[in-house]
Amino acid sequence: MTWRASVVTLFPDMLPGPLGLSLAGRARAAGVWSLDTVNLRDFAPDKHRTVDDTPFGGGSGMVLRPDIVDAALAGCDDGRPLVCLTPRGAPFTQAHAARFAASPGLVLLCGRYEGVDQRVIEARDMLELSIGDYVLSGGELAALVVLDATIRLLPGVMGAADSATEESFTDALLEYPHYTRPADWQGRRVPDVLLSGHHEAVRAWRQAQSENITRARRPDLWASRAYQSPAAVGCQPGAAALPNSDERILR
Ligand code: 6GU
Repeated sequence: MTWRASVVTLFPDMLPGPLGLSLAGRARAAGVWSLDTVNLRDFAPDKHRTVDDTPFGGGSGMVLRPDIVDAALAGCDDGRPLVCLTPRGAPFTQAHAARFAASPGLVLLCGRYEGVDQRVIEARDMLELSIGDYVLSGGELAALVVLDATIRLLPGVMGAADSATEESFTDALLEYPHYTRPADWQGRRVPDVLLSGHHEAVRAWRQAQSENITRARRPDLWASRAYQSPAAVGCQPGAAALPNSDERILR
């Protein structure tokens, strides 16, 4: 079965963008996934094709009308997870990508202007997601990010079937550093252990590198690991090894 993405947007020309190339592009050509765009403006009833209006209560910017968003979504709402991309959303994570890849597809609503009328978000039970703590001019780039992270997990998309299993975030650790030939480049040598042929020593070195880099760069990730070695847990009294708080992944 083809995994189906529908993107509701005021700028359908922003898709497929980079998803038309490389891994995702080849997978789409092979029928692993499909993309259709829905132009919000096609659902505006007036001759000026107006989709937004001023916010009740005052303030700057414009808000997408609930009736028009609802009409655009009506044709896509077939049981697939329905996601509204907004900087107000919960953080998008690898766990979302894995769940989306296991679903029949995804419907993505790209916000623009100041936002989307909250009533249609609630009426359609949309999952509001953000891709990070910065503001984009619209949800389209975020939709591309969510789709890229999801599509590469679809069966048959990744070349090496196992390269997804060891990488960053699947076990809430950042990846260890990678090296290839030449073994000496401009006087910089590859760590000796990687040339030793001792597989257990390599594994232990990589694990230690992953743990050190995670502690240094992402103390938040380190603190939230589902499993920590007893020594690591002991270092952080009070920091319980709990899963992340927003576990509402699918509606
Ligand atoms: Cl999903 N949308 C917008 N407009 N900005 C964002 C975002 C989404 N995620 C991070 N910044």
